[in-house]
Amino acid sequence: MSELIYNSDIKRITTFNVSANAACIAYYDTLDELKLLLADRSLPRPIKHLGEGSNMLFTKDFPGTILISRIDSHEIIDIREDGSVLVKASAGVIMDNLCRDLALKNIWGLENLSGIPGTVGASVIQNVGAYGVEAGDLIVQAEAVEIDSAETVTFSHEMIDFGYRHSIFKTEEMRDRFIITAVVFKLSSKPKPRTNYANLQSLVGNNPSAIEMRNAVISIRDNKLPSPAIVGSAGSFFKNPIISQQHFDKIKALFPNEKVPHFIIGDDEIKLPAAWLIDKAGCKSMTQGGASLWYSQPLVIVNISGNATSHDIIELEHRIIKCVKSQFNITLYPEVEHI
Ligand code: EPU
Repeated sequence: MSELIYNSDIKRITTFNVSANAACIAYYDTLDELKLLLADRSLPRPIKHLGEGSNMLFTKDFPGTILISRIDSHEIIDIREDGSVLVKASAGVIMDNLCRDLALKNIWGLENLSGIPGTVGASVIQNVGAYGVEAGDLIVQAEAVEIDSAETVTFSHEMIDFGYRHSIFKTEEMRDRFIITAVVFKLSSKPKPRTNYANLQSLVGNNPSAIEMRNAVISIRDNKLPSPAIVGSAGSFFKNPIISQQHFDKIKALFPNEKVPHFIIGDDEIKLPAAWLIDKAGCKSMTQGGASLWYSQPLVIVNISGNATSHDIIELEHRIIKCVKSQFNITLYPEVEHI
């Protein structure tokens, strides 16, 4: 049965551990309940749907209703002769639980995304990625409900228009218009270890199982990233910027004795790690009130004190953007959604 909680602290449903009031938080357990909630005009508006709240910063009190799915199911819907396996998961499933369950069954594809906070639904919107894999590479379809009409719409892979931490659901026109309800992933029963990122190869050796890949990814993440259960954060706060070759040459010239980390992602498109830029700009030790940067991964703003305000975080964000811009003429953009 759906459950409504009025005037509640957002702290309990987001990972930044920052306080703000939500007029209403509504949990639902079935799609019919979701549709009834959408039709209920007495609920405070606007409507905002959340997954695990791991990529959100509420900058002030929220006057509307935050919807949260408690539907937690996935099933294999097709196994094909070529080894491909179609798995349909409800949007409310915790992504890491899905990664674990499938790796245990030796179904390949999601193991490199192990340990990423958030739900399956958010993985579509955000096109989450890590260690050489992006969710969008594996998503063939997403089912959604339109907030205004409560009608069901199916989006194909092509319609979703995946890009780096981008999908159609992040565009001005589509933002907060649809609620993702289920996702179909095309995975594989044949081993497909992706070991060409970081030191994965040396950790897993040859012919790893899917669960060995998962464990290796988790151990790399644990060494670098703060544990969301202990330290408030929203994962990578900034996106890795993409610059031109000419701009990259200028940056390289500033560091003649160093190898500048980068990824060539297209014609005249080079992605630089924001963590490296923040480090080289000398802003790694910046703090603002209770907010600071994680010591081993400065791409992550942390609420290590537990008493950072959204104001502290935004101030720190602006100072970092300014600092990197002045040193490298590169503008960092936040990955974390500001509400
Ligand atoms: N670095 C520094 N100084 C530091 C720390 C790191 O210069 O203090 C350098 C490293 O040497 C390395 C780079 O910065 O060259 C960091 O690379 P890393 O592999 O840690 O990944 P990233 O580009 O910072 C992205 C994703 C992560 C994902 C990792 C692994 C984005 C915004 N972030 O981070 O995703 O886990 O790759 O694939 O694309 C997330 O989205 O929340 C997230 C954690």
